[in-house]
Amino acid sequence: MPEADFSSKQKEYFTDIPQKNEAFFLKGSNNLDWGMKNRLSRIFSPDSGKTVMLAFDHGYFQGPTTGLERIDISILPLALQADALMLTRGILRSVIPPSTRKSIVMRASGGPSILKELSNENIAVAMEDAVRMNVSAVAVQVFIGGEFETQSIHNLTRLVDAGMRHGIPVLGVTAVGKEMVRDARYMRLATRICAELGASFVKTYFVEEDFESVTASCPVPIVIAGGKKLPELDALTMARKAIDQGALGVDMGRNIFQSDAPVAMLEAVRKVVHEGVSPKEAFEYYQTQKNG
Ligand code: R5P
Repeated sequence: MPEADFSSKQKEYFTDIPQKNEAFFLKGSNNLDWGMKNRLSRIFSPDSGKTVMLAFDHGYFQGPTTGLERIDISILPLALQADALMLTRGILRSVIPPSTRKSIVMRASGGPSILKELSNENIAVAMEDAVRMNVSAVAVQVFIGGEFETQSIHNLTRLVDAGMRHGIPVLGVTAVGKEMVRDARYMRLATRICAELGASFVKTYFVEEDFESVTASCPVPIVIAGGKKLPELDALTMARKAIDQGALGVDMGRNIFQSDAPVAMLEAVRKVVHEGVSPKEAFEYYQTQKNG
């Protein structure tokens, strides 16, 4: 049977060059499906292996947080600088232009407000709707040691099961209750449980002592939350230390959008995370951009 290919050009099969079979660049993710890996590659840069996510999902339990009163005005100009946007589906549909090419990490748990017991969360987004919104990952809060610990873990595992069906990675977010000690021992416990139960990546807080043991004992990537607003140099220093100790990125909110110069701060954080610059250099860059 003749081939339906009338080109006069000689075929070339490169029989002496074996097809490459490269390992996926991201820690613990090599055995995931193609769609999962593709979505993770929209969050973590395949060049640096790291991510700078901009978190502005705080309204899901605390309403119009300082700096987030008007996301259309304060956050949209920042969005272009981030690798991924962490937000709720309400904000995505009401404020974020569908023409955006940014990757979306969607908050998928919720329920109680700051007036109630925060650990009493349920799943807040059906995976079908997350797929419809073309998200790169969904995020779920896990309250290890909290009153509704088991319920929050079930939220994670149900999202992981649904995510596996659709190729959507799940970000496990470790929520540390006020009564808990924020130390490496707690973070090791919380992050490891998230990973063991199927989270593709985990968000936690940086701790000054022994953070390396947290990243080492978690088999999937860890990104750090920023936490409450710090002076810019301190926030940049925290990011540097976290990356140097094995974190693969930041998912930072208040330390960026509550800064006097949010765009400059986000760019400075990018320099620390993606380019490996020192906190001092990044802070100098921040100041130049802020005053320029
Ligand atoms: C908190 O629960 C929210 O999910 C935020 O995404 C998270 O805390 C990161 O924001 P921040 O850097 O302001 O702590």
